[in-house]
Amino acid sequence: MQIETINTHSYDDQNPGTSGLRKKVKIFQQPGYLENFVQAIFDSLEDFSGKTLVLGGDGRYFNRTAIQSIIKIAAANGFGELIIGQGGLLSTPAASNIIRKYKAFGGLVLSASHNPGGPNEDFGIKYNVSNGGPAPEKYTHAFFKRSQVIDSYKIAVMEDVDLDQLGTQQLDGMTIKIIDPVSDYAELMQSLFDFDLLKQSIGSGYITLLFDAMSAITGPYAKRILVDLLGASPNSVINAEPLEDFGGHHPDPNLAHAHELAEAMFSDDAPTFGAASDGDGDRNMITGKQIFVTPSDSLAIMAANAHLIPAYAKGLAGVARSMPTSQAVDRVAAKYNIPCFETPTGWKFFGNLLDAGKITLCGEESFGTGSDHVREKDGVWAALFWLNLIAVKRQSVAEIVHEHWQTFGRDIYSRHDYEAVDATIAKGIVEHLCGQLPILPGQHFGEYEISFADEFSYTDPVDGSVSSNQGVRIGFTNGSRIVFRLSGTGTVGATLRIYLERFEPDTTKHNQDAQTALADLIDLAEQLCEVKKRTGRTEPDVVT
Ligand code: G6P
Ligand code: ZN
Repeated sequence: MQIETINTHSYDDQNPGTSGLRKKVKIFQQPGYLENFVQAIFDSLEDFSGKTLVLGGDGRYFNRTAIQSIIKIAAANGFGELIIGQGGLLSTPAASNIIRKYKAFGGLVLSASHNPGGPNEDFGIKYNVSNGGPAPEKYTHAFFKRSQVIDSYKIAVMEDVDLDQLGTQQLDGMTIKIIDPVSDYAELMQSLFDFDLLKQSIGSGYITLLFDAMSAITGPYAKRILVDLLGASPNSVINAEPLEDFGGHHPDPNLAHAHELAEAMFSDDAPTFGAASDGDGDRNMITGKQIFVTPSDSLAIMAANAHLIPAYAKGLAGVARSMPTSQAVDRVAAKYNIPCFETPTGWKFFGNLLDAGKITLCGEESFGTGSDHVREKDGVWAALFWLNLIAVKRQSVAEIVHEHWQTFGRDIYSRHDYEAVDATIAKGIVEHLCGQLPILPGQHFGEYEISFADEFSYTDPVDGSVSSNQGVRIGFTNGSRIVFRLSGTGTVGATLRIYLERFEPDTTKHNQDAQTALADLIDLAEQLCEVKKRTGRTEPDVVT
């Protein structure tokens, strides 16, 4: 194999965020930008010579170009085998599964998740370790450090690989396997859920469904599993063709962006169940006829009913949620007497807990739920979990949710996002908040009394690593909370997220509109952080 060493100059902005390095495509197209980062990753890893690397992405613009470069850099750096999804495609959870199943050294997943794609939009790259999960911070810090001083990268001189031809080829001592991106994942799902029951429930018309793949990666997965294996009608999967620009949309499964699904689910002839997933297939949105299930509630409901699903029939070892996720799942854990962990935002923080067997299920308010079956959140899995639940319980989504609230109380929840805030103003807001923390406990605001106010810091119970400055938490004596955090995934300016949560045990008050029920907390949040005052904005850009 002929290997060239190319001199390069370093870039100073290659610090991976919540989930890998995400930038505009134009930034990735700068000379050596992608190559530097990939080489910085390989330089920071040890003992991978001759080992296997998994490679695939969500099919967005620049995916194929990036894959060809990475193949050559991986070859030059001594990997022995590359497993690549056909067409360069792999959903994030499918990549996680393949890393685990084939005992790979690690994997590179190319995606900017739910951000738009196209020549003027976003691209991303993240490294996953051998447990199939996103690289923990000690790795991402090392990647960044190395990227700042890198002055050359190694690349093999070779032809582009045909990404569309399934099969195994040998190239100068390296094996390249192009695999079907769906088969292993579909097999895994069949081992977790009751496919016979699902087939019956769908075949008999008891369950009707709609899955919005948002012109992103889950189209092929949903078609194979829901249509081919479970017998749903072909038009129950919409926007099923992965497109490089996601049809010009944000491939983000929420009521605003998955509007086709949202419209259908709130119409008179809505199907029993509706779900959507994001660009790379790890997020999910769950809906039923005339009802949207918040991700925090979805996690709690899954935890409360997990014993009804074959894979979790033995019960859960424990559960975890990210700090800003509502405390609904905590109530389930308390009732079932299982541990509940509060982690910083980012799926990577669940990895150690899952590996150590301390938790079985976990989730985040940012439309992510998952379990120990892989080390990523998993959109299609979440949809199948809910379908299996509906089939076993013989209840509608609305009935399942209302019954849950009756049993555990409702954590009325909403998130307000202020996007593209000037970085200096955002810093000022955080400093202003932190400055008030010592004097807040004990203060009264209407019916709310602050019980604690702190900056969240997390000590990983498995490896003892500490992650500080993970957001500001204001807790109230009645179980309500306000959380403030700067997003770690944005690509323009800073995004301030305000998470609002009010616990409502009174069943007669469960059907309130969230924004109305949270109005006092929304006012109080502004009093505390002054985002409107400091930015001149009158309302959040996004309310979920
Ligand atoms: C990605 C990560 C999640 C995280 C979410 C929100 O989807 O995989 O773990 O919760 O981003 O992150 P942000 O920092 O933008 O709030
Ligand atoms: Zn994603």
